[in-house]
Amino acid sequence: MSRFVDKISFFDRRSSPMAEAEDIARDGLLGYHSPPAAASPAPSGAPAGGASITLGQLFKRVGDAHNGDSEEDSDAFSPRDHVLELGAFSAGGGEGDHLLDSRPLPFVLAFSNLTYSVKRPKKMSLFRKNRLAMDPAAGLVPSEAYARTKTLLNSISGEAREGEIFAVLGASGSGKSTLIDALANRIARESLQGSCTLNGEKLDGRLLKVISAYVMQDDLLYPMLTVEETLMFSAEFRLPRSLSASKKKSRVQALIDQLGLRSAAKTIIGDEIHRGVSGGERRRVSIGIDIIHDPIILFLDEPTSGLDSTSAFMVVKVLQRIAHSGSIVIMSVHQPSYRILCLLDRLLFLSRGQTVFSGPPDDLHRFFAEFGHPIPDNENPTEFALDLIRELEGTPAGASSLVEFNKSRQITQPAAAAAGKPSLSLKDAISASISRGKLVSGATEGTTTSSASSVQKHANPFWIEIGVLTKRSFTNTKRMPELFAIRLGAVLVTGFILATIFWRLDNSPKGAQERLGFFAIAMSTMFYTCADALPVFLNERSIFMRETAYNAYRRSSYVLSHAIVGFPPLIILSIAFALTTYFAVGLAGGMQGFIFFVLIVLASFWAGSGFVTFLSGVVTNVMLGYTVVVAILAYFLLFSGFFINRDRIHDYWIWFHYLSLVKYPYEAVMQNEFDDPHECFVRGVQMFDNTPLGALPEVIKVNVLKSIGQTLGVNITSSTCITTGTGILKQQSITQLSKWDCLWVTVAWGFWFRFLFYISLLLGSRNKRR
Ligand SMILES: Nc1ncnc2c1ncn2[C@@H]1O[C@H](COP(=O)(O)OP(=O)(O)OP(=O)(O)O)[C@@H](O)[C@H]1O
Ligand SMILES: [Mg+2]
Repeated sequence: MSRFVDKISFFDRRSSPMAEAEDIARDGLLGYHSPPAAASPAPSGAPAGGASITLGQLFKRVGDAHNGDSEEDSDAFSPRDHVLELGAFSAGGGEGDHLLDSRPLPFVLAFSNLTYSVKRPKKMSLFRKNRLAMDPAAGLVPSEAYARTKTLLNSISGEAREGEIFAVLGASGSGKSTLIDALANRIARESLQGSCTLNGEKLDGRLLKVISAYVMQDDLLYPMLTVEETLMFSAEFRLPRSLSASKKKSRVQALIDQLGLRSAAKTIIGDEIHRGVSGGERRRVSIGIDIIHDPIILFLDEPTSGLDSTSAFMVVKVLQRIAHSGSIVIMSVHQPSYRILCLLDRLLFLSRGQTVFSGPPDDLHRFFAEFGHPIPDNENPTEFALDLIRELEGTPAGASSLVEFNKSRQITQPAAAAAGKPSLSLKDAISASISRGKLVSGATEGTTTSSASSVQKHANPFWIEIGVLTKRSFTNTKRMPELFAIRLGAVLVTGFILATIFWRLDNSPKGAQERLGFFAIAMSTMFYTCADALPVFLNERSIFMRETAYNAYRRSSYVLSHAIVGFPPLIILSIAFALTTYFAVGLAGGMQGFIFFVLIVLASFWAGSGFVTFLSGVVTNVMLGYTVVVAILAYFLLFSGFFINRDRIHDYWIWFHYLSLVKYPYEAVMQNEFDDPHECFVRGVQMFDNTPLGALPEVIKVNVLKSIGQTLGVNITSSTCITTGTGILKQQSITQLSKWDCLWVTVAWGFWFRFLFYISLLLGSRNKRR
């Protein structure tokens, strides 16, 4: 017991849960967050009725009120500080939970008859039809079993209230996540039937995004950031720009305390390789980044799964605190322990998308006793209920008897559900909530009358988003220097191998031929070494999806910052590659030629990483991504002009030649090498090399050369230049673009692919179910 209390004091040094429960019973929850009474919906100075107030104005007024006490920054967000401001709204305490049910509630999220079905592919339903026909134990009524649609939610109704935790329970596959998604507006409106209202008003999707938060089941965090940094970046994204940096910091510090993360604040999150915070702490950080703006409604999908019972209890305890600070907490949970059950206020049990029980935990005993299956003493009521449901699901009739019993009970005892009715309009309730310090969100000085339209989509302008994103990504990558070291090593090894193979090439016809080979392989290798950009976005994809789901930043900002963070390493890699190969191979052009070589290698890296980044936006699987990258780059090399000249490619393939990313840098380096009209690569008898005449004795070759000269009427000797660099370029059909044109085209490819990456993010990152 003493250990248990120790753990609790981790969260709240003032009291144990028991003491806290007593506090609540004594003072009522209202002593803590004091919901406003109907008569005084807004802080003093609000226009009567609040009809003309926009949400933006409300935020502004609240901001003005906060400005008065700048020295108390660190406490600016503590809900307790705002109780005094709303003294007039206090309903008084003393009646404990009973009061909770009968008081007027500022926020009530009500949903009724939520129904959601998905279409099954035809083939699958035929297959299932046969299988289910043979398997009556599947528990589906025949009409449902053979239907082409599957009902995931079947007429679900309920009510979640401020100050309470509303928990959705059920076996795996019962529809818990689906219900949470439906309430959090993550299912397309046209697919979902039924209504969902907040304080009697239909919920606008944009408003819900601002006043709510959705915590996913997975912990999607940057592994190398500390807990404090992670929360700070979240604050930068979600809190309005008007809030000073010190206030953002104090919000983060308050949150660290609220989440019980003080001792882990400076620890990195960690991953499989780097040891970081514990699983429970990580889950609390995940919750923290979503509640940084102190949302009014908090959705969580199984926040406790995968945690040991103490960590799970701590998480739910944190959620209870959040609820008590004036939020509605809606979560799904698999099988809560008895201690966790005590923290839940309202339960909804699902079985195959249908409600089998809804009500407070205290009601479970009576409910199952009336159903004819009393819960034995000393048994966890939820475990018993879930076991019974599973048992019933195994029978031919399924859990329909329980569903029907629950329905009839709801009809005969509607009082419980209707006890706490919201007395404030949505706008007034939000106004009052903000004045208590809630919803430190993306506010605007909007002038329209609709609360939804006065909510700004993003908290920051895009240049700030780019700055914060760049800083975060840079901080994360700089703590993993080994990744860059591996990349640099790969480029250096490639450069070393090429340098030793093509060591000091001469200006003979063979040397010229080998230079062509060096350029073709070097330029395509530049692209291949960019393949490591593939997992960069694939690893971040889930974080990106989560953050853009609540408009933390614009997708365009992400694309730009992605390019900015990725660029500096490319400069180092380009210089490293050029230094290892340029002088060793003996390329022409002196210092100017070297600088151009560095630039074209850099442009190739830029275009290559852009191409791979674009693919990572389209292909979601790493292995598939690598296969596609390798295959397409091979085609690019094939069509680059090295293996087959442009004028030899058939008309129906010529388009691919122009699409080949390798073509442009290849032609650029070729021109850099061979653009000197005085440099000679084939002299006199060298023209017979690689021909049957090449095997003849030298004297005969000179005579043949003389006779050719006589026939043509020119004097050709052993030292006459037959082919200059320009001639080689002509032979290779490199005549259309100058080397600088080729450089710009390569750079433009890099931009184009990043634009395509942006489009892929726009089209591919829908967060709603259909
Ligand atoms: N697109 C779909 N097509 C067909 N069935 C689906 C589809 N999406 C979900 N389902 C089914 O709907 C049911 C409910 O899924 P849901 O994810 O809500 O379950 P859950 O209660 O959250 O389960 P768990 O506890 O395992 O997370 C499952 O049986 C699932 O297979
Ligand atoms: Mg689920």
